[in-house]
Amino acid sequence: INKGDAVNILLQNNLSEHTNIHWHGLKIPALMDGHPDQLANAGGTFRYLFTVNQRAGLSWYHPHPHEITGKQVFQGLAGLFIINDAEEAALNLPSGQYEIPLVIQDKRITNAGITYNPSMEEVMAGFMGESIVVNAVYSPYTEVATRYYRLRILNGSNARVYNLAFSNNADMIIIGNDGGLLKNPVTVKEILIAPGERLDVLVTFNAVSVGSEIYLTSKEFGNGGDAQGKQSFRIMKFKVTSAATDTFIVPSNLSAISTIAASSAVKTRTFEISNAMEHHGYPMNDGMQMRHRINGKLFDTGRIDENVSANTNEIWVFDNSNGDEPHPMHLHGVFFRVLDRTGGRGNLIASESGWKDTVLVMPGERVRVIIPFESNTGKFVFHCHNLEHEDDGLMLQYQLS
Ligand code: C2O
Ligand code: CU
Ligand code: CU
Repeated sequence: INKGDAVNILLQNNLSEHTNIHWHGLKIPALMDGHPDQLANAGGTFRYLFTVNQRAGLSWYHPHPHEITGKQVFQGLAGLFIINDAEEAALNLPSGQYEIPLVIQDKRITNAGITYNPSMEEVMAGFMGESIVVNAVYSPYTEVATRYYRLRILNGSNARVYNLAFSNNADMIIIGNDGGLLKNPVTVKEILIAPGERLDVLVTFNAVSVGSEIYLTSKEFGNGGDAQGKQSFRIMKFKVTSAATDTFIVPSNLSAISTIAASSAVKTRTFEISNAMEHHGYPMNDGMQMRHRINGKLFDTGRIDENVSANTNEIWVFDNSNGDEPHPMHLHGVFFRVLDRTGGRGNLIASESGWKDTVLVMPGERVRVIIPFESNTGKFVFHCHNLEHEDDGLMLQYQLS
């Protein structure tokens, strides 16, 4: 889609249960956003009409019916939504067959097919499949030439966090994230990507001899709690099959991104997202069940949790200081800038410098973001993008008016 285009998409729901489509990363009217209230019933339809009025970037779409989002996404309902604009086109980044979209997911595959059957422990930790698929292909590979490629990466997994790295230790040049291009490229050897997050990465195979096989892998990482980061594994193979001459030079300036001063915030809100057991004085209004909560509350579509004034900047703090699980926190309807991270990893990573819609808050961490709320009024949700946590209730609503 080009910036400025009108979109008209009819969802025909042929499932035997309700569903909808949330356009993750699109700034569109609340009633088109796939809020859990806005459903297509079994056999029904929902027409999505909106205009894309935002900069280039890699967004995606997936269902959002409360309590069954995890199941529907896991079973295959997710796809990319790519927005192009003139600023990005002017950079002449690798395109066509040299621009490769990669949707990374993990699946549990049984004789019955893709199987979503989380145990109680898997609801707590998030559901992680044993088989990695890319673009829904098991054991994926692609043939490449000895030149630059642009990889447009989505972590479309329900719960699994990946620590991406190449098996030949190749540089990954991070040029974009959830909200489009960064200001300047940043070169890393490995980078974390949590569910819901996107990465725009340049990699070159020019130093690799034809005939080699390189793997995109996930390396072990720390700070991930009991269930994450304990193994390294392969994600996808790149077979270098042909030589190429490449004149591409990585641009040193990618995009003009304005900064937002923390001092421009009119309000700070703090959200406690630590482990369900540790509710730190917030009243548990539904007994002492082990559930994932924000500020002690479970999702309730009939309750507005935060009232926000249009056209103001706010600082939101996601506090997982006392938690023991990673929570990738996501807001609908806006993009934000990450101000800082204290505790845990203690600083920001390469992909956190531009516009974000999802930010990973590891156990022990406290992350502050600044959000320019514009004039797109209405009721929007924000939640953990570990979909088992979200379905379990780790989701609240804000009303922008
Ligand atoms: Cu991709 Cu409400 O989420
Ligand atoms: Cu979203
Ligand atoms: Cu979570």
